[in-house]
Amino acid sequence: MSLFWSLWIMFLVVLNLGITLFLFLWAPRAKIPVQQDGTSGHVWAHGVLREGVHPLPLWWVILSASMFVVGFAYLALFPGFGRFKGLLGWTSHGELAANVASNNARLDELMKRFSLYPIEQLAGDPAAQQLGGRLFLDNCAACHGRSATGNQLLGAPDLTDNDWLYGGDGKAIFTSIHDGRAGVMPPWASLGEENVKNLAQFVLSLSGRPHDEQRAAAAKPLFATCAACHGPDGKGNQALGAPNLTDQIWLHGGTLADIETTIRDGRQGHMPAWSPRLTEDQIRVLAAYVYHLSHPDHAYPK
Ligand code: HEC
Ligand code: HEC
Repeated sequence: MSLFWSLWIMFLVVLNLGITLFLFLWAPRAKIPVQQDGTSGHVWAHGVLREGVHPLPLWWVILSASMFVVGFAYLALFPGFGRFKGLLGWTSHGELAANVASNNARLDELMKRFSLYPIEQLAGDPAAQQLGGRLFLDNCAACHGRSATGNQLLGAPDLTDNDWLYGGDGKAIFTSIHDGRAGVMPPWASLGEENVKNLAQFVLSLSGRPHDEQRAAAAKPLFATCAACHGPDGKGNQALGAPNLTDQIWLHGGTLADIETTIRDGRQGHMPAWSPRLTEDQIRVLAAYVYHLSHPDHAYPK
């Protein structure tokens, strides 16, 4: 606050408090001439209303006096009188920092307990499940859904099915959340539309679904290109996040049209890294929660 505004506020405070204090002290002593009928002689409304003279009630005097005491004490102790910081040195920033620190201390106590166990074991702790569930709703539900069953439009996988792009032990789940993931399925339009259609039929055959035998057989040699990532038997590769193509779980949709689009145009999945936004302990609790989602039978290692 500049010196000018500081002095201006001090001036207003002194003026206001000065006038009210003066009135408060002067009024009870003021001599008011009293007429014989006990009124001040002031008349309104053609004599209908006459002004009486009564001392101020004691309760009002005491209440007002204590207001002045509280007012002056406040100005002495807290910031309010221009730039004067107050004798207590109180600031709203300081109070916020103290509250945050005491809250963190309480959470740290809880978190310390959590960091003692491996993530798989932590997953069985109801307190971790509860806290993880809250963190999940706040940070993850937008993409993975409130019940964590995923969103095919975003390519966000179902986290409850125990089928994993990058691995489903505590450590792999922690890494997925901590560092983020970026799965890249390259586009294959350059192979020509016939080959794309043939490959889609071959992909259908991998998971034992009805398919065009001729087209699938024609695509078989081409699958060598795909095998570099999806594996020779199409069972996927967790090091690359290449999905298993032999199961009935589809990240980007399992209709023939979905599969053709995936092969023709490619797909990119982006899982953001949470290490800049959440603490290590929060990520551990989240990983435990995610682990718990696919192990609802509570068969956790002891
Ligand atoms: C912006 C959308 C988005 C948000 C927010 C998000 N995710 Fe993801 N997540 C994805 C996508 C997309 C993938 C798949 C990445 C890929 O295709 O490579 C993924 C993958 C994962 C995986 C790996 C799954 C597997 O099968 O290996 C885990 C675990 C995961 N997310 C957990 C979380 C948690 C926990 C949060 C909240 C802290 C979160 N995600 C927030 C989009 C998101
Ligand atoms: C460079 C590695 C790589 C190659 C080569 C590759 N893929 Fe993929 N593929 C991926 C990744 C990674 C994903 C998952 C994309 C994501 O995370 O969103 C994927 C996803 C897919 C999917 C979607 C699966 C689902 O669950 O929705 C299909 C289908 C697929 N690939 C088929 C193929 C075929 C057919 C070929 C060969 C023409 C091929 N891929 C070649 C890496 C690869």
